[in-house]
Amino acid sequence: MASLDTLTLPLDQTSGDDLAAAGLEYRRVDADGDDFRPFLQAVGRGFLGGESTDAEVDNSRLTLRTRRLTGVFDRAGAVPAMPVGTIDSWATALTASPGRTIDLWAISAVTVAPTHRRRGIARAMIGGELRTAKAAGFALAGLTVTEATIYGRWGFSPAAWASDVVVDTRRARWTGPQAPGRLDFVPKDSLVERLHAVHERVRVRQPGAVPGWDGRWRGLAGLAPGDKAAERVRAVVYRDADGVETGVLVYTIDERDDFSAHDLEVRTLFAADADAYAALWRFAIEHDLVGRVKAWLQQPVPPVQWMVDDRRAVTATLTDHHWLRVLDVPAALAARAYAAPLDLVLRVDDPLGLADGTWRVTIGDDGEAAVMPTDAAAAVEMTVGALGSLLLGGVRATELAAAGLVKAGMNECAALDRAFAAAVTPHLDIWY
Ligand SMILES: CC(C)(COP(=O)(O)OP(=O)(O)OC[C@H]1O[C@@H](n2cnc3c(N)ncnc32)[C@H](O)[C@@H]1OP(=O)(O)O)[C@@H](O)C(=O)NCCC(=O)NCCS
Repeated sequence: MASLDTLTLPLDQTSGDDLAAAGLEYRRVDADGDDFRPFLQAVGRGFLGGESTDAEVDNSRLTLRTRRLTGVFDRAGAVPAMPVGTIDSWATALTASPGRTIDLWAISAVTVAPTHRRRGIARAMIGGELRTAKAAGFALAGLTVTEATIYGRWGFSPAAWASDVVVDTRRARWTGPQAPGRLDFVPKDSLVERLHAVHERVRVRQPGAVPGWDGRWRGLAGLAPGDKAAERVRAVVYRDADGVETGVLVYTIDERDDFSAHDLEVRTLFAADADAYAALWRFAIEHDLVGRVKAWLQQPVPPVQWMVDDRRAVTATLTDHHWLRVLDVPAALAARAYAAPLDLVLRVDDPLGLADGTWRVTIGDDGEAAVMPTDAAAAVEMTVGALGSLLLGGVRATELAAAGLVKAGMNECAALDRAFAAAVTPHLDIWY
């Protein structure tokens, strides 16, 4: 059982020593201390943002107070209080299959000052997080990424995907279901609770999902200080025939030159059932004076494609979104339910040594996996990254074998494909 109080865990000694050898200090940052503002400014600089105002610092503190903030400091610098490296982590819950979650070590705010790039600071910070998470009993670490080229070297690999959707509403006549419930506008200041409530219903059934938090909901709702689009944020909710709120859409209308064809930009659309999904998408597509609907982080194969007469009016661009890193093979594999029995010996190659080994993987008719270390010869070999990608069933072993990332015969690949097939396509619907 992983330790969920990550704030009390010590800093990784190896990373501390490596950074000290480079003349750098590795230490925790207290969200209520003097270090917090410079930490936040360093994160903002790393992600090319502006300087945070007092109100923005206070708003971020509300979220980051519960997180494990770590900085790397260069005492010889002109502003030694400003970290040259930042990282933030916390314990959360990853949905492994519908109704089943596993503790996840979530990582965010990875930045290194451009003056200190490519000296191994990120390597020390990420290695430190992985070793700390492993020592605390976490089977998985995860993150969302700015660039797909950074994290593979540390054993992270895409495990859940998302699509960016654009709908040309002049071509898209609604042919989808007629939802029986009703839509109503709701005030922005009610959205934190509403987004939380609907998202909780969605994410526990959605492999690849993690819970949101109040700061994330405030941001999407236009309630965070410094949000230049805040006054244009509007929200509608869907209530089913029994009056239960099962969907919420938060959006802005962005003006374009053609006054009758503005952009409706979806900030978020959460739907706990098919009716809510259909009602909210129909609302967006049929909105008067709108020519285009844009929505990010939608399902990898968005159902809205099947709800309009001209499916080419809907463009969905698939992107990797949730990257996972297996730290404990037996615990990670046991987290989910499987679609078919399996019995094979699996070799996992982990250059960092955290999840390296050979296991007999047995999945019974009940879909439960038993994973035991073995000295037997492996029928299937893969990198720790490939295992992370296979874990939730978002990609098939056959596809990874074709790319040389899984070494196995056709029969073993087919057996893996049958067992790992996902009941629900993995999807992560927020950034973290
Ligand atoms: C990405 C970032 C954190 C890397 O920090 P860094 O301290 O320069 O990285 P390191 O020196 O520890 O590099 C470790 C390895 O990663 C590689 N690497 C670092 N950044 C990379 C990038 N953007 N693309 C590809 N490889 C990268 C290095 O070349 C090095 O490779 P090696 O294993 O072959 O030696 C830093 O460039 C940054 O802050 N970028 C802007 C913010 C950002 O994108 N953060 C990531 C958020 S998900």
